[in-house]
Amino acid sequence: MAGFIELAYLVAASLFIVGLKRLATPATARGGNFLSALGMLVAIVATLFDRQILGFQWIVVGVVIGSALGLWMARAVKMTAMPQMVGILNGFGGGASQLVAAAVWHQFVQSGSLLTLETAVSIYAATLIGGVTFSGSIVAAGKLQEIISGRPVLFRFQHLLNLILFLSIGGMGMYLVISPGHSGVFIAMNVIALILGVLVVIPIGGADMPVVICLLNSYSGLAAATTGFVISNHGLIISGALVGASGIILTQTMCLAMNRSFANVLFGGFGAQVAATVGDDGRGLAARGVRETSAEDAAVMLGYARSVVVAPGYGLAVAQAQHQVRDLADLLEKRGVTVKYAIHPVAGRMPGHMNVLLAEANVPYPQLFDMEQINPEFERTDVVLVVGANDVVNPAARNSPSSPIYGMPILDVDKAGHVIVLKRSMNPGFAGIENELFYNEKTFMLFGDARESLVKLVDEVKNL
Ligand code: TAP
Repeated sequence: MAGFIELAYLVAASLFIVGLKRLATPATARGGNFLSALGMLVAIVATLFDRQILGFQWIVVGVVIGSALGLWMARAVKMTAMPQMVGILNGFGGGASQLVAAAVWHQFVQSGSLLTLETAVSIYAATLIGGVTFSGSIVAAGKLQEIISGRPVLFRFQHLLNLILFLSIGGMGMYLVISPGHSGVFIAMNVIALILGVLVVIPIGGADMPVVICLLNSYSGLAAATTGFVISNHGLIISGALVGASGIILTQTMCLAMNRSFANVLFGGFGAQVAATVGDDGRGLAARGVRETSAEDAAVMLGYARSVVVAPGYGLAVAQAQHQVRDLADLLEKRGVTVKYAIHPVAGRMPGHMNVLLAEANVPYPQLFDMEQINPEFERTDVVLVVGANDVVNPAARNSPSSPIYGMPILDVDKAGHVIVLKRSMNPGFAGIENELFYNEKTFMLFGDARESLVKLVDEVKNL
């Protein structure tokens, strides 16, 4: 039996790895997700065989409630709320690890048997990482959902306090290794881990929460892996290590795409400084020379172009305009216009945000181009249609060393013949800064909700 179980874990681990690999491109991502879920099913079944379960009734109740909740969340939660849902799920992972560690610790103390050093270290590590992940993720999700203020909460000696709490958990862990069985110390350790989770997330601005959620995703993997050591479960160790590693790679990729360092995200209080540059709702800036256009004129520009590139951003997600974008692209293609989509790695608010939205509208994958692929093409593009994107098309990232986003790689849409921007106002985007693209003489602003503007554009192109 033991051999069969280890084999099942190996199969599950292989499915996770192949699944992760297939998540790398939109064309294979659905299949990758399915393979990974299948791997998890194999691992769960193997674990149920492994554990000499006495009664399945509570497990069945848990599976039914959990599956029903998961199904409901997956269907009900809006695309724009996905980052916070992922945050909550990470938190549950961390919380589960913390609870398992506590249960094992309790079992050892009750039975009076001796904890080995490895088990003790694993229990305390799972308590620390699991607790920080749980409370940190709940705060991160709360900030994204705007239940908690997104403003960075900064106070004196904040980082010193965090360091003291971190070291005190280490100290308590060492104390418990030497003299186990002190429930009070163990409970204090759990509570401090939860407090630390809150304290490490509150100084980070709401806008940086997607990065924090990726980092906490990585932590939830580490917590699971350490819990795997606690209960000697190879499946958990492997899956936790994979989540931990992929989460940290994703976090690093997001930081690179925003041209921010890891430390700047965690300690920079981004959102506190930029708030000062916001404020002007921007309508008055029209005096500085933005050119407004009508749906009728924009349709002429698009309909008679040879090549159009759509540059989507967060506003596409807010407006849920992906189907209308597709309708417009179909019409343009029927007129002989070449249509491509430019995908910036951090457009929107979560990794792959634009890919997911466009896939929902069945936009063919070969029409999606990564930033590196599409940038050299803008010089040869007649019209770029910017749909709710702002920071990711802001030339200040190239031209203005004083800009908070200076150095961030952007879509070079300003190099195209003409640019049509769909947005509701002159309000800034995530970074809270003005966008010189909107004042460019080649740029035409079509103000309004992106979905409504696209519906009008579709009608106008039909009438051409
Ligand atoms: P943003 O710079 O945030 O700009 C979005 C624009 O969409 C806004 O200017 C807004 O202008 C417009 N908008 C909102 N609702 C709209 C609607 N219903 N119809 C039309 N327009 C609408 O978006 P971006 O260009 O995608 O850049 C993403 C930003 O998020 C970057 O700064 C990036 O670093 C950051 N970020 C991304 C991630 C990931 S992983 N994607 C994670 C963390 C941070 P109006 O209000 O005037 O309409």
